[in-house]
Amino acid sequence: MKSLDNRLQAAADYVQPGGIVADIGTDHGYLPIWLVKTGRAQAAFAADINPGPLKAAADNICAEGLENQIQTALTDGLDNLPLSEITDIVIAGMGGMLIAEILKRHLPLAGKNLILQPMTQAPFLRSWLGRNGLSILSETPAEAGGKMYTVIQAQYTGEILECGSFFAHTGKIPEALKNPDKEEMARKYLLHLHKKLNVILYGMSRSGTEDEKTAEYREIIRRMEELIV
Ligand SMILES: C[S@@+](CC[C@H](N)C(=O)[O-])C[C@H]1O[C@@H](n2cnc3c(N)ncnc32)[C@H](O)[C@@H]1O
Repeated sequence: MKSLDNRLQAAADYVQPGGIVADIGTDHGYLPIWLVKTGRAQAAFAADINPGPLKAAADNICAEGLENQIQTALTDGLDNLPLSEITDIVIAGMGGMLIAEILKRHLPLAGKNLILQPMTQAPFLRSWLGRNGLSILSETPAEAGGKMYTVIQAQYTGEILECGSFFAHTGKIPEALKNPDKEEMARKYLLHLHKKLNVILYGMSRSGTEDEKTAEYREIIRRMEELIV
């Protein structure tokens, strides 16, 4: 069995013990294989919209002898999956807008443990979750292959939240600073974000743009500095 990198391991760590997991955009299938093989999950659906990746997943599942516990599905997002059976939904390695698009068709997804790992557009995804009654319970920052990622755990609460731009950019990472197991990586994530926002701000100011957006970025950077400096 292939061991997971820190990004996928952070996602796996949010799966409920004994859960039935849907891994959307499974690609190689490493995550459901690890979850079932280690006994963390009792069963899984490995879903992908593209036949090529799904074939790779199916081959890897067969090689581990897990065909009875991991079912493959050629499908778009959560479409055609038996949602009533599924306890945990993982959507990792996609853009934040695509993740939102996939969830949107099946809202409210009450009672599901949602584990979301946006590659891009994390601020969009956090805002979208808040506007759709899905609360972010926790985040785990992770580093893999020299890049920083965040893994978001969310759940339907029905509470509609219009999140501010600081929360949209940092989510629950500031809270992770208080967790000894996550503190170092949370600091690294915030430093990485701080650098990224400064580069954007520098570009804006060089082009002479000084508007609400630059003021907003300055404020996010200032609040981040209170946390990490
Ligand atoms: C970059 S890979 C991520 C693989 C794995 N989840 C990970 O995080 O390492 C993205 C996968 O999502 C699949 N995908 C893209 N859009 C999808 C959709 N709407 N529904 C299901 N799978 C999708 C792609 O075919 C691809 O295999």
